[in-house]
Amino acid sequence: MLCANINSGGDCLMKKQKQGYLISFEGVDGAGKSSHIARVKARLEELGFECLQTREPGGTPVGEAIRELVLHHDMDVNTELLLMYAARRQHMVETIQPALDRGVWVITDRFEDSSFAYQAGAGGASWEDCQQLSKWALKGFEPTLTFLFDLPIAVSQSRIQGRAGASDKFEEKPTGYFEAVRAGFIKRSQLNPRRIRLIDAQPSESEVGETVLAELDKFMRTHLNLGLA
Ligand code: TYD
Repeated sequence: MLCANINSGGDCLMKKQKQGYLISFEGVDGAGKSSHIARVKARLEELGFECLQTREPGGTPVGEAIRELVLHHDMDVNTELLLMYAARRQHMVETIQPALDRGVWVITDRFEDSSFAYQAGAGGASWEDCQQLSKWALKGFEPTLTFLFDLPIAVSQSRIQGRAGASDKFEEKPTGYFEAVRAGFIKRSQLNPRRIRLIDAQPSESEVGETVLAELDKFMRTHLNLGLA
């Protein structure tokens, strides 16, 4: 267990950490992403860090407008990819980077691994185009840590079955599409083993939550020099 290091004045020393970190959460639906985001945020706040929770597509007024467009209108996959990166560029410039510069930790529900998995892996856009676009739009900017929740698609679909009707066009896609999304995510994790923690999301939510917090502790030990016990 990681312990907060509190000085005699009662201020958490961690608040003095100048640089924030970007943590992204990825995966297919039904993996409990939202509850794990809440868990990680609570843990970081308990340790004294300021956190900002955000999402993609979205996270800025422009990004939210783009979200409305891409989630509810059929379009060419490359148009979709460009819009995802347009939203992401704005998200990085307007929301994420300024927060990181203030020492805030940014927790995002999805980032660019989703574009590789959904638009390239499943939607038919080219993986190489996606890489080029990433280089051009983000200039190498990426999360320091990514939790990728992996689940067989049959399990994912049975978990989301009870939910109210599809809330966006992606939820209406056939099983084969999600198999390809899953494979795209796994490929990303193989290509980025230092950043991406591939988490088996099949166990119970609390068991998966334990794994997530253990990985977060490990990350903090290796990235922060804060005298953590
Ligand atoms: P999300 O808000 O996570 O919705 P859900 O709760 O249904 O998972 O993501 C919205 C959808 O947008 C989701 O189906 C994945 C898709 N998406 C892409 O296709 N490409 C992207 O780059 C991103 C960020 C999301």
